[in-house]
Formats: sequence, C-alpha cells, structure tokens
Amino acid sequence: MTPNLYEAIQAERGKYPAGSESAVLPALRLAQAEHGWLSPDVIREVADALDETPAYVKSIASFYDQFHLAPIGEHLVEVCTNVSCAVVGAQQVVEAFENGLGCRAGETSADGKVTLRAVECLGGCGWATIVAVDHHYRTHVEADDVPAIVEELRGT
Ligand code: FES
Repeated sequence: MTPNLYEAIQAERGKYPAGSESAVLPALRLAQAEHGWLSPDVIREVADALDETPAYVKSIASFYDQFHLAPIGEHLVEVCTNVSCAVVGAQQVVEAFENGLGCRAGETSADGKVTLRAVECLGGCGWATIVAVDHHYRTHVEADDVPAIVEELRGT
C-alpha cells in the first residue's frame, strides 16, 4: 500500500471515531481507485490499515456490485436487467454486447478492453434500457445501438 493511500484511509477512519467499520466502504473505494480492483492482497492491506479482519473487509467488498474482486478491462459496461429495463429489451441488449465483444456477461473481452456485466436497477428506470459505460449512463439503449458502442470502446 502506498503511503498516500494509507494516509487517505486513515483520514477516512478519523471521520468515524465510534469504530473503523464505517470506514471500510470509503477505504475500499480508495483502494480500488488506486489498484483498479480488490485483490486478496489489497483486501488484507485495507483490513490491516483499519485493524479489521480480511474476512470482514471481504464480506463488505463482495456485497456491493461497485467493487471488483477480479481484474476488469479498460472499460466497464453494465447493463441493467431489472424489471423496467427488462420489459423494453435489456436481455437483447446484453446479448448484443455478448455478440459484439465475444464474451458473456460477467467476463472481459479477449483483448482486455471491455468487461461486461448484467446488473440490478441502476436507478434510471424512466430511461430504460440503461447502460452504464465507465459509470456514465446511456439512456434508452436498444440492441441496435450496441455495435456503435462496442466500436467506440474498442477504438479508445
Ligand atoms: S430497472 Fe433498469 S434502471 Fe431501474
């Protein structure tokens, strides 16, 4: 762990004098921002920095979709497949990404460019189907829109 990351985690910890448990989420966000994903070594380092157990820290990390417990591609595509998006064709959008990227949801394309995930509600139900590309929402996405998005991501 870099000194800067350690100091940032301690700063978060200082905001919660009642206990370091509340600092786990911000610490994991900081660690993921630095490393790209949360390896077992990073989980252990975060736990050590907060005087928590690695098992506890991993239990938090594994609960939230926002944390990556395996390496991800240069780009992250998350397709909402919850009800509002499902009724307007989210599954077809997922399949179009799978075909365009040559990988299944939950995997990364062979060139390492794009990780594809099917996720629960992204909170943009009125603009279904929602696709988050590197955390920026694309709205009213249809399967026919997907090839252009794949081409865009492969070109960057
Ligand atoms: S159901 Fe897709 S954004 Fe809510």
